[in-house]
Amino acid sequence: MRVTTRNIQEFKKKGQKFAVLTAYDYQMAKLVEEAGVPVILVGDSLGQVVLGYDSTVKVTMDEMLHHTKAVVRATQRAMIIGDMPFLSYNVDDAQALNNAGRFLQEAGAQAVKLEGGIHVARTVKRITEAGIPVMGHIGLTPQSVHQLGGYRVQGKTSAEAHNIMKDALALEAAGAFSIVLELIPASVAEAISRRLTIPTIGIGAGVGCDAQVQVINDMLGLNTDFIPKHAKHYAAIGDGIREAVMAYVSEVQAETFPTEAQSFLTEDTIIEGIQQA
Ligand code: KIV
Repeated sequence: MRVTTRNIQEFKKKGQKFAVLTAYDYQMAKLVEEAGVPVILVGDSLGQVVLGYDSTVKVTMDEMLHHTKAVVRATQRAMIIGDMPFLSYNVDDAQALNNAGRFLQEAGAQAVKLEGGIHVARTVKRITEAGIPVMGHIGLTPQSVHQLGGYRVQGKTSAEAHNIMKDALALEAAGAFSIVLELIPASVAEAISRRLTIPTIGIGAGVGCDAQVQVINDMLGLNTDFIPKHAKHYAAIGDGIREAVMAYVSEVQAETFPTEAQSFLTEDTIIEGIQQA
């Protein structure tokens, strides 16, 4: 049985903090679940960290479904959340509902996430009324990067903080089961977390949130070009991969790989036979 929205609500009631992590492929998702992560987000950060796009704006439904399917195949217990990509839920309610449904029906996810506050509350209500759990996402919403003018901390002024609180309340009233708070001051995130009955999931939003989410490539140190301020390197896997590949390249050149241990041997008489063929 997978983790349910009910379990997530109970975490909040008990004051039990929990970790959410992104994953985009089979092997990584398997390891993440084995490590005890209860909620895996197949984020549209896929665009930047896996597909090499310059933002999440170019990510398509087909790409998201393809990767969500792989993560679902790898896991048995974690709740899998599919991130609805840019413009897959903003055209009208029918389009939003249809695309949200594809994450559950075609990919096997248990919930979807979408970005925005008051202006998407009606869409969130429509999707949740159809029986699809929705995770909201406010503060910095990367799909609106061109409108926001960059990846900047949101909610630093009192007016902005007020608007973020109103967005959070609108999403909760619309039926969202949890809300990602991205890049907002820790004190604002803490106040929102106290006010809401549903869990907040912070990224660059301080320790006062009910849960934390990280992009797995950032926390594993796979991304060696850029380390966001909100990320912590728990490992240096990128350096490890580079060193391993360099060792392989030099062993191939020096003929020290493969050895007999990695080779398959046969009778000398067979070799004599094929040499005369
Ligand atoms: O796409 C993503 O990975 C996300 C998280 C950063 C919350 O939206």
